[in-house]
Amino acid sequence: MIPERCDIVFRNATVIDGTGAPRRRADLGVADDRIVAVGDLSRVKGGVEIDASGRVLAPGFIDVHTHDDYVLLAKPEMTPKLSQGVTTVVVGNCGVSLAPLASAARPPAPLDLVAGDAGWDYPDFGSYFTALDRAPPAINAAALVGHSSLRVLAMDRLDRAATPDEVRAMRRILEDGLEAGAIGFSTGLAYRTAIAAPTLEVIEIARALTRHRALYVTHMRNEGDQIFESIDETLAIGRAAEVPVIISHHKTAGAPNFGRSAETLPKIAEAAKHQKVGLDVYPYPASSTVLSADMIPRSTKILVAWSKARPEFAGRDLKEVAAELGCSQEEAVSRLLPAGGIYFAMDEGDVRRIMAFADSMIGSDGLPNDEHPHPRLWGTFPRVLGHYARELGLFGLEAAVRKMTGLSAHRFGLKDRGVVRAGAFADLVMFDPETVIDRATFERPVAVSDGIDLVMVNGRIAWKSGAATGARAGRALRRQDQDRPML
Ligand code: ZN
Ligand code: CU
Repeated sequence: MIPERCDIVFRNATVIDGTGAPRRRADLGVADDRIVAVGDLSRVKGGVEIDASGRVLAPGFIDVHTHDDYVLLAKPEMTPKLSQGVTTVVVGNCGVSLAPLASAARPPAPLDLVAGDAGWDYPDFGSYFTALDRAPPAINAAALVGHSSLRVLAMDRLDRAATPDEVRAMRRILEDGLEAGAIGFSTGLAYRTAIAAPTLEVIEIARALTRHRALYVTHMRNEGDQIFESIDETLAIGRAAEVPVIISHHKTAGAPNFGRSAETLPKIAEAAKHQKVGLDVYPYPASSTVLSADMIPRSTKILVAWSKARPEFAGRDLKEVAAELGCSQEEAVSRLLPAGGIYFAMDEGDVRRIMAFADSMIGSDGLPNDEHPHPRLWGTFPRVLGHYARELGLFGLEAAVRKMTGLSAHRFGLKDRGVVRAGAFADLVMFDPETVIDRATFERPVAVSDGIDLVMVNGRIAWKSGAATGARAGRALRRQDQDRPML
């Protein structure tokens, strides 16, 4: 039924609905927090009328791979994401989640990428979600429980496998997180906080997911020479715990592995015939994480993203820093720690092949606390739309939008989001398909993208004409209110 009045009507939009279906010309009506009608609404009056002619109206983008746990509370305006058209983020990736940890001391890297010295105030997921409810951010958030956070909480040292008692304790804490509303469990098995965890430890903890129909998301143990073994391990964990798995920020890193996405993608596609498996990717040939000397031989270039010891070096090339300090790059790293780095160790051909893979979702992996962040924090989504879809023609705009909306909502089970249809939540982005483009670069990474005209979150206009409106209509998306992932 078409209502007579709507709170807001978008007129004459080019609707790209997030399913991959071809664009169509339509009006769209919003009442309260939902889309109530899509089609010819010439008889419907809107409390607010928005001319969307020449503009694409799409579901708000879902950033499936973020480390925004803390920044959602500390900087609830969420400008880096909102300005790109992102209306929902998934936090707690790579095995690091803000909850359930309450600690006065700075946690070990890579936990410090999420929050540094301050912010570790959430002893359980219930208190984290309550904090989001009390001070809503501008955008929605779903949360994963991080394996490394559990290890920091449950173990006295991290350079060993967990004992059966510790595994049980971690499974119980994961269970608590799921009951409080977390949608899944993440690992970062490449990190020092988790590398000593054998596959069986992960499986035994992940068993908590089965009954709760939650998912397993992983920054794999190795994304370079042992990429195949790592994919096998990921798939085995999914099968043993009988849960869907998501491979995070898929890449084949290091020069000897350039081109190997031509083999990993068919392997993932084959596995997907037998079990539920998904993947995400960011649109850049450089990664960013903790600064580590291990990455020196594998990278053609390294930028310092931040340094607690020497903050003045943020944004500088590590080679120059080493020359200035009169030492080796390895020594420079140790003088800068704790610190973050940006590593050029991927092949653009692989980035494009992985992005073009039909099942790939877009996730930024942006690090919101970095002094000189990787440009993916501010630019990921407009870059996929403007650079990869429009300029390079890597895929059509409909396919690009699906990778950041409908596919993502389906994979993560986010109910009534990621699609434009009557009844769905009014999370929307209106953008100019001719001009949308990222402005953030490796040199100048903090920059609002072009072409994002309007962003709506749960029926409230949160971004308009290049500025935030101040609306804070984001919600904590609890598992209990969502769909089953990947069904
Ligand atoms: Zn990661
Ligand atoms: Cu990550």
